[in-house]
Amino acid sequence: MCGIVALIGSREAAPQLLEGLRQLEYRGYDSAGIATVAVEAGCIPARLHCLRAEGKLVNLTARVEAQGAPGLCGIGHTRWATHGKPEERNAHPHLDGSGQLAVVQNGIIENHRVLREELQAKGVVFKSDTDTEVIPHLVARRLAELQAGGLLASGSLLLRAVQEVLPLLHGAYALAVVWAQAPGALVVARKAAPLLIGLGEGEFLCASDTPALAGFTRTILPMEDGEVALLTPLGIELYDAAGERVQRTPTLLSGTEHVADKRSFRHFMLKEIHEQPETAALWVARHLPEPTVGAAAPLVALPLDAGLLDGLERVQLLACGTSRHAAQVGAYLLEQLAGIPTDVFYASEFRYAPPPLSAHTLTVGVTQSGETADTLAALAMEQERRRQVADPAYAPRLLGITNRAESSLGRLVDQVLDIGAGIEVGVAATKTFLGQLLAFYGLAFALAERRGGSINGRSPEQRRALAQQLRQLPQQLRALVDDHDRRCEALAHRFAETQDVIFLGRGINYPIALEGALKLKEISYIHAEGYPAGEMKHGPIALLDAQVPVVSIAVPGTVFDKVLSNAQEAKARDAQLIGVAPEGPDTELFDVVLPVPEVDELLSPLLTVIPMQLLSYHIAAHRGLDVDQPRNLAKSVTVE
Ligand code: AGP
Repeated sequence: MCGIVALIGSREAAPQLLEGLRQLEYRGYDSAGIATVAVEAGCIPARLHCLRAEGKLVNLTARVEAQGAPGLCGIGHTRWATHGKPEERNAHPHLDGSGQLAVVQNGIIENHRVLREELQAKGVVFKSDTDTEVIPHLVARRLAELQAGGLLASGSLLLRAVQEVLPLLHGAYALAVVWAQAPGALVVARKAAPLLIGLGEGEFLCASDTPALAGFTRTILPMEDGEVALLTPLGIELYDAAGERVQRTPTLLSGTEHVADKRSFRHFMLKEIHEQPETAALWVARHLPEPTVGAAAPLVALPLDAGLLDGLERVQLLACGTSRHAAQVGAYLLEQLAGIPTDVFYASEFRYAPPPLSAHTLTVGVTQSGETADTLAALAMEQERRRQVADPAYAPRLLGITNRAESSLGRLVDQVLDIGAGIEVGVAATKTFLGQLLAFYGLAFALAERRGGSINGRSPEQRRALAQQLRQLPQQLRALVDDHDRRCEALAHRFAETQDVIFLGRGINYPIALEGALKLKEISYIHAEGYPAGEMKHGPIALLDAQVPVVSIAVPGTVFDKVLSNAQEAKARDAQLIGVAPEGPDTELFDVVLPVPEVDELLSPLLTVIPMQLLSYHIAAHRGLDVDQPRNLAKSVTVE
């Protein structure tokens, strides 16, 4: 949700800034801009070159190519609009009145209105509707006061002014500031929004996320909450919120998965759907050890501390969007497989209406990006309110399920289950959803084994049989993805003009119906709803007619017959029926069957989700839409 980059060093900044923004464009693509500082003929103040363009990054790139943006230091931004329409005047960077100071920001300054009014009362003229614009005005005014007191312009002065302004800002932010009077300095700061510093040779690149750094350096210094840094070509000065100097050892980015590459696929989303067999194969290899005869080896190898799981009485899951759908499947598994009571919450709701505290409770934050503001805030609140309780039974136990172990989530929770799906660029989550599901299978198995003689949940024999079936998953997924890619492409034209689609599922496949509806909505802009199939007759059935397709997930198990009956009810209202179901006499009522192999019902979401993803993808692609960057959305939602 907005991406920022900032570079200082000894080469032209603009190309690297644009490349960094290209890698961060998944965070927002309403507009983009850069500001560079160029010392011309040795003159100070230097000249600030600020170029901005509405729309995608290509528009800014063309402008930079045409007009040029010289300088060895600069900042850049790709925007997902919060305050102010996606127009050029609201694009970042924002400048102070003199045009000498520029700021990019990711986050929300919650008290911007009050600050704006105070500044306007002092004669400041605003040029945008954004919350961010208060920052350059505040910093510039503080700099003017300090200079009026006799202090000379320098990087240290810029640092001091930013440090003195930050306490005035309420909310969450990551920001970068450059000043034409101190052209060899860059100041960056973060509070509850991500910011990483990449260490190159005689140069530093800061960015909201690792993809922008991957081609630049593998040595990174993630900034902590409240920290401010002054960067010059000679080094970093890092300070905590109290203004104390901080020394911290940089870390190394691991693997090559931080680099985004579409390969030969038309869209990242399609590539990522096709990568799911590998996601599953990696999980099986890491966590499902081959059974050894006679040995009491665990079914699932999960590197979790005993302190998190011992004596657990309850689990609560916090998540948003697709991650919440994974959590809903997870809750079903934790209750049905491990027999442990589990609640799922919208992270955005939990924070403002938390349930009464329960003892011996594991709180799991589920977020592929590890940066979703609502999920982080809910987890932090839960951690804090549990810390206030003296009774150790209520002590916080926080687990994160994420694709980004190095994210803010990773630094907040006690332990992380890294789903290891590799970078996901498409805004619509696909392979990370599968990875989250697999993490929940692992967690449910681990808890079931730990609870051994629990009266609830599946027996050890049933669990062994399930684990055995799970080993087949990578091959099943390979066949399924290839098959449904063709089927859904051939089917897509039938739904290209559809206005509404209903997705039905029951039990463990109800969240998959929700996920199918969400995928279709977000990339094809077709209205879709997911319902528990049995709820249809309590109202939504009034929507049905021949124009409304119904996608029904009907897999053998506890509710197979019930779902088929619910599908019959829809057919009786002339709905076109698409069944995600095994082929056979039972499923002949469907107009179209998207076949899935028969597996234990508890494992079925791992397969039924594939036709959901591919149907949405092909409908959106057939409509000629921007599948990877759908309107109004962003990959990582770092505002509440
Ligand atoms: C997924 O397709 C959506 N783009 C969205 O619902 C997403 O799942 C949600 O914003 C949560 O993201 P997270 O997993 O990074 O926390």
